Amino acid sequence: MEKQILITGGTGYIGSHTAVEFINAGYEVIIIDNLSNSDISVLNGIEKITDIKPIFYKVDVTLKAELRKVFETHPNIQAIVHFAAFKAVGESVEFPLKYYHNNLTGLINILECMEEFKIKNLVFSSSCTIYGQPELLPVTEESPVIKPESPYGNTKKISEEIIQDFLNSTQGFKCISLRYFNPIGAHPSAEIGELPIGVPNNLMPYITQTAYGIREELKVFGSDYNTPDGTPIRDYINVVDLAEAHVAAVNRLLKDKTEDKFEVFNIGTGQGHTVLEVINAFEKNTGVKLKYRITNRRPGDVEKVWADTSKANKILGWKAKKSLAETVKSAWEWEKKYREKTKASI
Ligand code: UFG
Repeated sequence: MEKQILITGGTGYIGSHTAVEFINAGYEVIIIDNLSNSDISVLNGIEKITDIKPIFYKVDVTLKAELRKVFETHPNIQAIVHFAAFKAVGESVEFPLKYYHNNLTGLINILECMEEFKIKNLVFSSSCTIYGQPELLPVTEESPVIKPESPYGNTKKISEEIIQDFLNSTQGFKCISLRYFNPIGAHPSAEIGELPIGVPNNLMPYITQTAYGIREELKVFGSDYNTPDGTPIRDYINVVDLAEAHVAAVNRLLKDKTEDKFEVFNIGTGQGHTVLEVINAFEKNTGVKLKYRITNRRPGDVEKVWADTSKANKILGWKAKKSLAETVKSAWEWEKKYREKTKASI
Protein backbone atom coordinates (compact mmCIF):
# COMPACT_ATOMS: atom_id res chain seq x y z
CA MET A 1 0.00 0.00 0.00
CA GLU A 2 1.23 3.47 -0.88
CA LYS A 3 2.19 5.75 1.97
CA GLN A 4 -0.51 8.37 2.29
CA ILE A 5 -0.07 11.85 3.69
CA LEU A 6 -2.30 14.84 4.21
CA ILE A 7 -0.96 18.30 3.39
CA THR A 8 -2.97 21.19 4.81
CA GLY A 9 -2.41 24.41 2.91
CA GLY A 10 -1.16 22.28 0.05
CA THR A 11 -1.99 24.73 -2.73
CA GLY A 12 0.02 27.48 -1.03
CA TYR A 13 3.56 28.48 -1.85
CA ILE A 14 5.50 26.05 0.32
CA GLY A 15 2.67 23.51 0.41
CA SER A 16 2.54 23.07 -3.37
CA HIS A 17 6.30 22.56 -3.69
CA THR A 18 6.13 20.09 -0.83
CA ALA A 19 3.29 18.19 -2.49
CA VAL A 20 5.47 17.76 -5.58
CA GLU A 21 8.38 16.39 -3.56
CA PHE A 22 6.15 13.92 -1.71
CA ILE A 23 4.66 12.70 -4.98
CA ASN A 24 8.19 12.35 -6.41
CA ALA A 25 9.11 10.33 -3.33
CA GLY A 26 6.24 7.89 -4.00
CA TYR A 27 3.67 9.13 -1.49
CA GLU A 28 -0.02 9.45 -2.19
CA VAL A 29 -0.84 13.06 -1.40
CA ILE A 30 -4.14 14.44 -0.17
CA ILE A 31 -4.32 18.22 -0.14
CA ILE A 32 -6.74 20.37 1.77
CA ASP A 33 -6.81 24.13 1.42
CA ASN A 34 -9.48 26.79 1.80
CA LEU A 35 -8.00 28.68 -1.18
CA SER A 36 -7.96 31.91 0.85
CA ASN A 37 -4.44 32.70 -0.32
CA SER A 38 -3.95 30.37 -3.27
CA ASP A 39 -5.54 29.36 -6.52
CA ILE A 40 -7.06 26.04 -7.53
CA SER A 41 -4.97 26.15 -10.74
CA VAL A 42 -1.93 25.29 -8.61
CA LEU A 43 -3.18 21.69 -8.82
CA ASN A 44 -2.65 21.79 -12.60
CA GLY A 45 0.92 22.95 -11.99
CA ILE A 46 1.52 20.03 -9.64
CA GLU A 47 0.04 17.65 -12.21
CA LYS A 48 2.19 19.07 -15.02
CA ILE A 49 5.32 18.46 -12.98
CA THR A 50 4.47 15.03 -11.57
CA ASP A 51 1.83 13.62 -13.96
CA ILE A 52 -0.30 13.06 -10.90
CA LYS A 53 -3.18 15.18 -9.73
CA PRO A 54 -3.33 15.03 -5.94
CA ILE A 55 -6.62 14.35 -4.21
CA PHE A 56 -7.96 17.76 -3.23
CA TYR A 57 -10.64 19.03 -0.86
CA LYS A 58 -11.55 22.66 -0.40
CA VAL A 59 -11.61 22.56 3.37
CA ASP A 60 -10.97 25.17 6.01
CA VAL A 61 -8.97 23.70 8.89
CA THR A 62 -10.75 25.95 11.36
CA LEU A 63 -14.04 24.16 10.57
CA LYS A 64 -13.82 20.91 12.44
CA ALA A 65 -16.81 19.17 10.85
CA GLU A 66 -15.36 19.70 7.35
CA LEU A 67 -11.98 18.52 8.47
CA ARG A 68 -13.33 15.37 10.16
CA LYS A 69 -14.97 14.28 6.91
CA VAL A 70 -11.59 14.13 5.19
CA PHE A 71 -10.27 11.76 7.84
CA GLU A 72 -13.44 9.67 7.71
CA THR A 73 -13.04 9.35 3.93
CA HIS A 74 -9.33 8.52 4.17
CA PRO A 75 -8.67 6.21 7.12
CA ASN A 76 -5.10 5.35 6.05
CA ILE A 77 -3.40 8.73 6.36
CA GLN A 78 -0.07 8.12 8.07
CA ALA A 79 1.21 11.63 8.56
CA ILE A 80 0.04 15.22 8.37
CA VAL A 81 2.12 18.13 7.13
CA HIS A 82 0.40 21.19 8.50
CA PHE A 83 0.96 24.43 6.57
CA ALA A 84 -2.50 25.98 6.55
CA ALA A 85 -2.12 29.32 8.33
CA PHE A 86 -2.12 33.05 7.75
CA LYS A 87 1.39 34.42 7.33
CA ALA A 88 1.44 38.17 6.69
CA VAL A 89 3.47 39.78 9.47
CA GLY A 90 2.07 43.32 9.04
CA GLU A 91 -1.53 42.20 8.72
CA SER A 92 -1.18 40.19 11.91
CA VAL A 93 -0.25 43.34 13.82
CA GLU A 94 -3.39 45.02 12.52
CA PHE A 95 -5.70 42.02 13.02
CA PRO A 96 -4.18 39.92 15.80
CA LEU A 97 -7.37 38.06 16.67
CA LYS A 98 -7.83 36.95 13.08
CA TYR A 99 -4.34 35.43 13.26
CA TYR A 100 -4.71 33.82 16.68
CA HIS A 101 -8.13 32.46 15.73
CA ASN A 102 -7.11 31.04 12.38
CA ASN A 103 -3.67 29.69 13.16
CA LEU A 104 -4.42 28.27 16.60
CA THR A 105 -7.93 26.93 15.95
CA GLY A 106 -6.65 25.27 12.81
CA LEU A 107 -3.82 23.59 14.70
CA ILE A 108 -6.07 22.47 17.57
CA ASN A 109 -8.52 20.92 15.11
CA ILE A 110 -5.68 19.07 13.42
CA LEU A 111 -4.43 17.74 16.77
CA GLU A 112 -7.95 16.70 17.81
CA CYS A 113 -8.38 14.84 14.54
CA MET A 114 -4.99 13.18 14.98
CA GLU A 115 -6.14 11.94 18.37
CA GLU A 116 -9.57 10.82 17.17
CA PHE A 117 -8.35 9.13 14.00
CA LYS A 118 -5.10 7.86 15.53
CA ILE A 119 -2.73 9.57 13.14
CA LYS A 120 0.55 9.52 14.95
CA ASN A 121 2.81 11.77 12.91
CA LEU A 122 2.86 15.51 12.36
CA VAL A 123 5.25 17.88 10.61
CA PHE A 124 4.66 21.46 11.66
CA SER A 125 5.55 24.54 9.70
CA SER A 126 7.38 26.85 12.10
CA SER A 127 9.59 29.87 11.63
CA CYS A 128 12.92 31.32 12.68
CA THR A 129 10.98 34.39 13.76
CA ILE A 130 10.66 32.69 17.17
CA TYR A 131 14.39 33.31 17.76
CA GLY A 132 13.97 37.09 17.35
CA GLN A 133 17.41 38.68 17.05
CA PRO A 134 19.63 35.85 18.30
CA GLU A 135 22.65 36.81 20.35
CA LEU A 136 24.83 34.16 18.76
CA LEU A 137 25.01 33.45 15.05
CA PRO A 138 24.51 31.13 13.30
CA VAL A 139 21.44 30.29 15.35
CA THR A 140 21.10 26.72 16.61
CA GLU A 141 17.96 24.98 17.83
CA GLU A 142 19.25 25.49 21.37
CA SER A 143 19.00 29.24 21.00
CA PRO A 144 16.34 30.71 23.31
CA VAL A 145 12.88 31.16 21.85
CA ILE A 146 11.42 34.61 22.49
CA LYS A 147 7.98 36.13 22.15
CA PRO A 148 8.06 37.30 18.52
CA GLU A 149 7.19 40.89 17.72
CA SER A 150 4.25 40.04 15.50
CA PRO A 151 1.11 38.11 16.40
CA TYR A 152 1.85 35.96 13.34
CA GLY A 153 5.22 35.01 14.78
CA ASN A 154 3.65 34.48 18.17
CA THR A 155 1.17 31.97 16.71
CA LYS A 156 4.19 29.90 15.64
CA LYS A 157 5.69 30.01 19.13
CA ILE A 158 2.36 29.20 20.80
CA SER A 159 1.68 26.45 18.26
CA GLU A 160 4.93 24.70 19.18
CA GLU A 161 3.90 24.91 22.84
CA ILE A 162 0.42 23.55 22.16
CA ILE A 163 1.87 20.66 20.19
CA GLN A 164 4.31 19.81 23.00
CA ASP A 165 1.55 19.84 25.62
CA PHE A 166 -0.56 17.59 23.41
CA LEU A 167 2.33 15.16 22.89
CA ASN A 168 3.05 15.06 26.62
CA SER A 169 -0.54 14.11 27.35
CA THR A 170 -0.71 11.27 24.83
CA GLN A 171 1.16 8.11 23.90
CA GLY A 172 2.74 7.41 20.55
CA PHE A 173 2.13 10.77 18.87
CA LYS A 174 5.17 12.56 17.43
CA CYS A 175 5.94 15.86 15.78
CA ILE A 176 8.82 17.38 13.89
CA SER A 177 8.71 21.15 13.80
CA LEU A 178 10.65 22.73 10.97
CA ARG A 179 11.79 26.27 11.65
CA TYR A 180 12.10 27.87 8.26
CA PHE A 181 14.41 30.72 7.48
CA ASN A 182 13.48 32.76 4.36
CA PRO A 183 12.00 30.58 1.61
CA ILE A 184 12.39 32.01 -1.90
CA GLY A 185 12.46 30.82 -5.51
CA ALA A 186 10.23 28.51 -7.47
CA HIS A 187 10.11 25.04 -8.97
CA PRO A 188 12.64 24.77 -11.86
CA SER A 189 9.77 23.95 -14.23
CA ALA A 190 8.27 27.39 -13.43
CA GLU A 191 4.88 25.64 -13.20
CA ILE A 192 4.45 26.57 -9.54
CA GLY A 193 5.88 29.42 -7.50
CA GLU A 194 5.07 32.18 -5.05
CA LEU A 195 1.87 34.00 -5.82
CA PRO A 196 1.11 36.64 -3.22
CA ILE A 197 -2.31 38.20 -3.41
CA GLY A 198 -2.05 41.98 -3.74
CA VAL A 199 1.13 43.90 -2.94
CA PRO A 200 3.86 41.51 -1.79
CA ASN A 201 5.30 41.91 1.71
CA ASN A 202 8.35 39.78 1.12
CA LEU A 203 11.52 40.67 -0.68
CA MET A 204 11.69 38.14 -3.50
CA PRO A 205 8.20 38.55 -4.98
CA TYR A 206 8.62 42.31 -4.65
CA ILE A 207 11.82 42.06 -6.66
CA THR A 208 10.33 39.90 -9.41
CA GLN A 209 7.17 42.02 -9.66
CA THR A 210 9.26 45.20 -9.86
CA ALA A 211 11.44 43.62 -12.53
CA TYR A 212 8.31 42.70 -14.49
CA GLY A 213 7.00 46.26 -14.22
CA ILE A 214 4.07 45.52 -11.92
CA ARG A 215 5.62 47.57 -9.08
CA GLU A 216 7.35 50.85 -9.74
CA GLU A 217 10.36 50.34 -7.51
CA LEU A 218 11.64 48.21 -4.69
CA LYS A 219 12.11 49.96 -1.39
CA VAL A 220 15.12 48.66 0.52
CA PHE A 221 14.13 49.02 4.16
CA GLY A 222 17.19 50.57 5.80
CA SER A 223 20.91 50.64 5.06
CA ASP A 224 22.16 51.63 8.50
CA TYR A 225 22.29 48.18 10.07
CA ASN A 226 25.47 46.76 11.50
CA THR A 227 26.17 44.56 8.46
CA PRO A 228 28.82 44.78 5.71
CA ASP A 229 26.65 46.91 3.38
CA GLY A 230 24.22 48.19 6.00
CA THR A 231 21.19 46.13 4.86
CA PRO A 232 19.77 43.25 6.94
CA ILE A 233 21.01 39.70 6.59
CA ARG A 234 18.73 36.69 6.12
CA ASP A 235 19.19 33.04 5.26
CA TYR A 236 17.39 32.63 1.93
CA ILE A 237 16.48 29.02 1.30
CA ASN A 238 15.29 27.61 -2.01
CA VAL A 239 11.69 26.46 -1.69
CA VAL A 240 12.39 23.10 -3.37
CA ASP A 241 15.20 22.41 -0.90
CA LEU A 242 12.81 23.41 1.86
CA ALA A 243 10.11 21.11 0.47
CA GLU A 244 12.56 18.19 0.53
CA ALA A 245 13.13 18.75 4.25
CA HIS A 246 9.47 17.83 4.83
CA VAL A 247 9.91 14.51 3.04
CA ALA A 248 13.00 13.80 5.15
CA ALA A 249 10.99 14.67 8.28
CA VAL A 250 8.06 12.40 7.41
CA ASN A 251 10.44 9.57 6.47
CA ARG A 252 12.07 9.92 9.88
CA LEU A 253 8.73 9.87 11.67
CA LEU A 254 7.45 6.85 9.74
CA LYS A 255 10.65 4.90 10.35
CA ASP A 256 10.11 5.64 14.04
CA LYS A 257 13.60 7.03 14.32
CA THR A 258 12.76 10.09 16.40
CA GLU A 259 14.56 10.36 19.71
CA ASP A 260 11.98 12.66 21.27
CA LYS A 261 8.26 13.04 20.66
CA PHE A 262 8.95 16.62 19.64
CA GLU A 263 11.95 17.47 17.53
CA VAL A 264 12.84 20.83 16.01
CA PHE A 265 15.12 21.55 13.09
CA ASN A 266 16.40 24.74 11.54
CA ILE A 267 15.78 24.69 7.82
CA GLY A 268 18.04 27.15 6.06
CA THR A 269 21.20 27.17 3.98
CA GLY A 270 23.53 28.14 6.79
CA GLN A 271 24.56 31.25 4.86
CA GLY A 272 23.39 34.81 5.28
CA HIS A 273 22.93 37.38 2.53
CA THR A 274 22.16 41.07 2.72
CA VAL A 275 19.26 42.62 0.82
CA LEU A 276 21.71 44.28 -1.57
CA GLU A 277 23.41 40.95 -2.22
CA VAL A 278 20.07 39.43 -3.18
CA ILE A 279 19.38 42.36 -5.52
CA ASN A 280 22.84 42.00 -7.07
CA ALA A 281 22.40 38.26 -7.49
CA PHE A 282 19.07 38.90 -9.18
CA GLU A 283 20.47 41.46 -11.61
CA LYS A 284 23.53 39.38 -12.41
CA ASN A 285 21.69 36.12 -13.01
CA THR A 286 18.69 37.44 -14.91
CA GLY A 287 20.31 40.33 -16.77
CA VAL A 288 17.43 42.53 -15.60
CA LYS A 289 18.20 45.88 -14.00
CA LEU A 290 16.13 46.50 -10.90
CA LYS A 291 14.79 49.87 -9.88
CA TYR A 292 15.29 50.26 -6.14
CA ARG A 293 15.70 52.94 -3.52
CA ILE A 294 16.93 52.90 0.07
CA THR A 295 14.22 54.02 2.49
CA ASN A 296 13.66 53.88 6.25
CA ARG A 297 13.87 50.73 8.28
CA ARG A 298 10.74 48.58 8.45
CA PRO A 299 9.51 48.28 12.04
CA GLY A 300 10.02 44.83 13.50
CA ASP A 301 12.85 43.75 11.16
CA VAL A 302 15.77 42.06 12.89
CA GLU A 303 19.30 42.97 11.83
CA LYS A 304 20.71 39.57 10.99
CA VAL A 305 19.80 35.95 11.25
CA TRP A 306 21.05 32.81 9.62
CA ALA A 307 20.83 29.16 10.52
CA ASP A 308 23.14 26.59 11.94
CA THR A 309 21.78 23.65 9.96
CA SER A 310 24.09 20.95 11.30
CA LYS A 311 21.29 19.24 13.25
CA ALA A 312 19.12 18.86 10.14
CA ASN A 313 22.16 17.84 8.07
CA LYS A 314 23.11 15.13 10.52
CA ILE A 315 19.82 13.83 11.85
CA LEU A 316 17.44 14.40 8.95
CA GLY A 317 20.14 13.68 6.38
CA TRP A 318 18.97 16.81 4.62
CA LYS A 319 20.98 19.69 3.22
CA ALA A 320 20.09 22.71 1.10
CA LYS A 321 21.63 22.19 -2.33
CA LYS A 322 20.65 25.10 -4.52
CA SER A 323 22.67 28.30 -4.86
CA LEU A 324 21.32 31.80 -4.42
CA ALA A 325 22.06 32.38 -8.12
CA GLU A 326 19.83 29.58 -9.38
CA THR A 327 17.20 30.35 -6.79
CA VAL A 328 16.72 34.01 -7.76
CA LYS A 329 16.70 32.94 -11.42
CA SER A 330 13.98 30.38 -10.71
CA ALA A 331 11.85 33.08 -9.06
CA TRP A 332 12.22 35.24 -12.18
CA GLU A 333 11.40 32.38 -14.58
CA TRP A 334 8.26 31.69 -12.59
CA GLU A 335 7.16 35.32 -12.52
CA LYS A 336 7.60 35.64 -16.29
CA LYS A 337 5.87 32.38 -17.13
CA TYR A 338 2.96 33.11 -14.81
CA ARG A 339 2.44 36.62 -16.19
CA GLU A 340 2.62 35.40 -19.80
CA LYS A 341 0.12 32.67 -19.02
CA THR A 342 -2.34 35.02 -17.33
CA LYS A 343 -1.94 37.58 -20.13
CA ALA A 344 -2.76 34.88 -22.66
CA SER A 345 -5.91 33.91 -20.78
CA ILE A 346 -7.33 37.45 -20.56
N1 UFG B 1 12.81 43.93 2.36
C1 UFG B 1 13.02 45.12 1.70
N2 UFG B 1 12.03 45.56 0.88
C2 UFG B 1 10.86 44.88 0.68
C3 UFG B 1 10.66 43.68 1.38
C4 UFG B 1 11.67 43.22 2.22
O1 UFG B 1 14.05 45.75 1.85
O2 UFG B 1 10.00 45.37 -0.06
C5 UFG B 1 13.88 43.41 3.24
C6 UFG B 1 13.46 43.33 4.69
O3 UFG B 1 13.71 44.55 5.34
C7 UFG B 1 14.35 42.21 5.20
C8 UFG B 1 14.53 41.30 3.97
O4 UFG B 1 14.18 42.11 2.85
O5 UFG B 1 15.60 42.70 5.53
C9 UFG B 1 13.63 40.09 3.98
O6 UFG B 1 12.29 40.52 4.20
P1 UFG B 1 11.05 39.55 3.98
O7 UFG B 1 9.82 40.33 4.24
O8 UFG B 1 11.18 38.85 2.68
O9 UFG B 1 11.29 38.43 5.07
P2 UFG B 1 11.36 38.58 6.66
O10 UFG B 1 12.73 38.13 7.04
O11 UFG B 1 10.91 39.86 7.17
O12 UFG B 1 10.20 37.57 7.05
C10 UFG B 1 10.31 36.23 6.77
C11 UFG B 1 8.93 35.59 6.60
C12 UFG B 1 8.15 35.62 7.85
C13 UFG B 1 8.96 35.12 9.00
C14 UFG B 1 10.29 35.83 9.06
C15 UFG B 1 11.19 35.27 10.10
O13 UFG B 1 8.21 36.24 5.59
O14 UFG B 1 7.05 34.77 7.69
O15 UFG B 1 10.96 35.69 7.84
O16 UFG B 1 12.34 36.05 10.19
F1 UFG B 1 8.32 35.33 10.16
